[in-house]
Amino acid sequence: MKIACIGAGYVGGPTMAVIADKCPEITVTVVDVNAQRIAQWNSPELPVYEPGLAEVVERTRGRNLFFSADVDAAIHDADVIFMSVNTPTKTYGEGAGKAADLRYLEICARKIAAVAESDKIVVEKSTLPVRTAETIQLILAAEKKQGVNFQVLSNPEFLAEGTAITDLENPDRVLVGAEETPAGAEAARILIDIYAHWIPRDKILTTNVWSSELSKLTANAFLAQRISSINAISALCEETGANVDEVAAAIGADARIGPKFLKASVGFGGSCFQKDILNLVYLCEHFGLHEAARYWEQVVTMNDWQKHRFVRRIVKALFNTVSGKRIALFGFAFKKETNDTRESAAIAVAKELLDEQANLAIYDPKVSAAQIHADLGLAPDATDEQGCPRVEVAPDAYAAAAQAHAIVVLTGWDEFVRLDYRRIHAAMRKPAFLFDGPTILNHKQLSEIGFTIHGIGRG
Ligand code: NAD
Ligand code: UGA
Repeated sequence: MKIACIGAGYVGGPTMAVIADKCPEITVTVVDVNAQRIAQWNSPELPVYEPGLAEVVERTRGRNLFFSADVDAAIHDADVIFMSVNTPTKTYGEGAGKAADLRYLEICARKIAAVAESDKIVVEKSTLPVRTAETIQLILAAEKKQGVNFQVLSNPEFLAEGTAITDLENPDRVLVGAEETPAGAEAARILIDIYAHWIPRDKILTTNVWSSELSKLTANAFLAQRISSINAISALCEETGANVDEVAAAIGADARIGPKFLKASVGFGGSCFQKDILNLVYLCEHFGLHEAARYWEQVVTMNDWQKHRFVRRIVKALFNTVSGKRIALFGFAFKKETNDTRESAAIAVAKELLDEQANLAIYDPKVSAAQIHADLGLAPDATDEQGCPRVEVAPDAYAAAAQAHAIVVLTGWDEFVRLDYRRIHAAMRKPAFLFDGPTILNHKQLSEIGFTIHGIGRG
């Protein structure tokens, strides 16, 4: 059997690497229109940082896992084609700011139909609005060569970045949505047999296509909703002397609530939560379900407020002005163990601090200087009136904190816990402020060193 995956991104790359690892007799080719990204996948410096990914790629690349820019050849040869292209929020026209932009997916479908000379199973791996499979099927049927048949399956991906490999190797479940026909059932059987190489069959759920598509948006909405809920409570904790971590532990001990995804934070980031909730909001509006739309939209509103609230707290603590002050940002990725900065809360916080005329010194162990400057939209050599850099990307946390008025921790990297905070404190301006966004540091110890500490959800 041959598999092709269109889209060599954060999902396509790791997902296919694990399939190739677990199914040595299957040839897996990952293709992308971005030839530079393909070159990186074929180099020692992979474009995606994920714990364990390099080892899986090392084992499989050149054996039964291939990265190629030849999209047509991979489609032509494949029995099963995963579509794993990006589906960002639309920025133009009808639905701008909410609906999913499906143009890359449509290009994929047209390409598959134009190239295929034999029957294919086409798998939606990207996160898509409910009923997209219908559109794909229509495009494939309109453009296909005579005698060629396609079956479209929905197989959403639930991995989280930073734990992608363990999530893929040991998922809570795999979801396969198929058309309720004999041909649909046969296509689902073929896809299920691939996953059954390493996943117990009782963890592989089958539904109709629409339930599968909608389950993915719903899962992300529920996860994000828990974060916004605890973040809303964190604001109340800061006013009342309650401690949000203690509240989270107390409510999470109720088996009906559960302990996961109750960590108050500067706000959720990442490429999917916001876009998928806005997509859900758009779908509800499209079907005239305005109350349901407003309900889910509030999860995003709360998230924006949390980021803004955190910046207001920083400015207020620093005597109501950060103008011309050097502020060290520890972390820029949207969570630890990834180099991904898409929708990172750090971007919103940094931009608002820059608007307040602060100068930033940023350190992240995995994010490049070029990425940070691109995300902030500032030229790398931009300076303030005194000639100080507006954004300096530091080689380590110590260099970032030197002469800073404040440290703002934005990503929960483990190395930030292990730093020598006495050394850091000695090199900072006084009073030395520390704002712990992900609440990873020992606040009591840091207070004893002399820091003025502010944490989310504690007074
Ligand atoms: P990504 O931007 O990292 O990768 C997408 C890739 O598709 C890019 O490299 C792009 O060049 C390529 N591409 C676009 N159009 C193409 C075309 N016509 N032909 C060939 N290649 C094309 O995106 P991602 O993070 O991997 O996400 C992909 C999808 O998976 C999205 O729908 C996302 O919502 C979903 N998803 C992402 C995650 C995650 O953790 N990132 C998890 C679950 C689901
Ligand atoms: C999320 C989901 O967890 C995945 O199941 C899903 O497949 C994926 O989105 C997707 O569709 O893209 P991801 O965004 O990679 O995965 O990472 P998460 O671990 O969910 O974290 C998202 C954001 O929420 C991060 O900024 C994180 O710091 C924040 N978060 C998470 C909290 O603020 N509190 C928590 O308790 C958990």
